[in-house]
Amino acid sequence: MSEDAMHGMKVTIRIQRFTPAPEREHARRHSSSPFGGKARGSSPFGSSPSRRRIRGKHFTQDYNIEAHPGQTVLDILLDIKRNIDPTLEFRYSCGHGICGSDAVSINGTPTLLCTAKIEDYARPETNQTDGAKAMANKGFRPTGTTKNVADDSISETNAETISANDTASRIDSTTSNFGNTNDPNDQSNSPTSQNTPSNPTVIEIAPLPGFPVLRDLIVDIDQMMNQIKKLEPYLKADGKLARTKDGKIDMFEYLQKPEELKRYELLSNCISCGVCEGSCPVYAGGEAFIGPAALIASSRFINDSRDNATDERLDAIATADGITACQSVRACSRECPRGIDVGEEMWQLTERVKNHQS
Ligand code: SF4
Ligand code: FES
Repeated sequence: MSEDAMHGMKVTIRIQRFTPAPEREHARRHSSSPFGGKARGSSPFGSSPSRRRIRGKHFTQDYNIEAHPGQTVLDILLDIKRNIDPTLEFRYSCGHGICGSDAVSINGTPTLLCTAKIEDYARPETNQTDGAKAMANKGFRPTGTTKNVADDSISETNAETISANDTASRIDSTTSNFGNTNDPNDQSNSPTSQNTPSNPTVIEIAPLPGFPVLRDLIVDIDQMMNQIKKLEPYLKADGKLARTKDGKIDMFEYLQKPEELKRYELLSNCISCGVCEGSCPVYAGGEAFIGPAALIASSRFINDSRDNATDERLDAIATADGITACQSVRACSRECPRGIDVGEEMWQLTERVKNHQS
């Protein structure tokens, strides 16, 4: 949609929300007791909160706002939180595409809130059923038990006590009218009646696919960070000793030519936002596939001429849940906010591992 067409137009921001159920008293008691917690198995990811089944209520909520050209979706959410609904939760920090903390799904596409322009994502409203189905089918991939959620969830009215892991696709068709009217019986605010010439556009926002939802648009990224850490993303190098004129050790030098720097420079720009993981149909937020973000972190050091642990790194990713699990779909390349061709890097890693093993 062009900026001119956007000027002064109302846009419906449709958000898939999640309110976790209050923690039970006994759960709190157990977590604070040194004897209360049961060991969670040998998985390195086992202690993550994402391994818990978070129960709560999933629902969608519409906010009707006036859009201005150049505003980002983050601008709009901040406006909603400050002026309309303080209960709306989302994560952000830098606001400039640097920290990677605000990845979500917008119209089914994983991206950053702070770089997504309203005019690029506002699209004509169809009707609630089609819109909800599109949300359920396009961007929301269950992370746990697979269920046929596309049909049975849309007809539900209150999807309470549903686990966060297996219901990322579940949508409550009851949409409240926060910021529009306080009368829930006012049919003029139903999603269908909003499909009018004065309010023709919608932007659908949901949590990042493939990650367990903690609250509203905030997902648990612990697993991704653990997977990155597991591949030891730091330089393992033997620096040369540089000496002063009188022979004393001055510093360790890690010399590199510009062309060697070029081989990994772009990879070092990865901000661990998880957009590539949310785009990847194989990544499921668990040990089945370590995920493209972790592999990019490893590739950054595999391609660094100063690093001495290349063989060890290639061995570490040549596993069933490592690069071997990559199906070369290349969806991971589409939306990387740092311009990394993630799919191409996955392919290069596959080749490196094959050569290493032959
Ligand atoms: S490779 Fe790109 S999309 Fe993936 S985590 Fe890094 S910056 Fe985000
Ligand atoms: S808020 Fe930091 S990348 Fe968007």
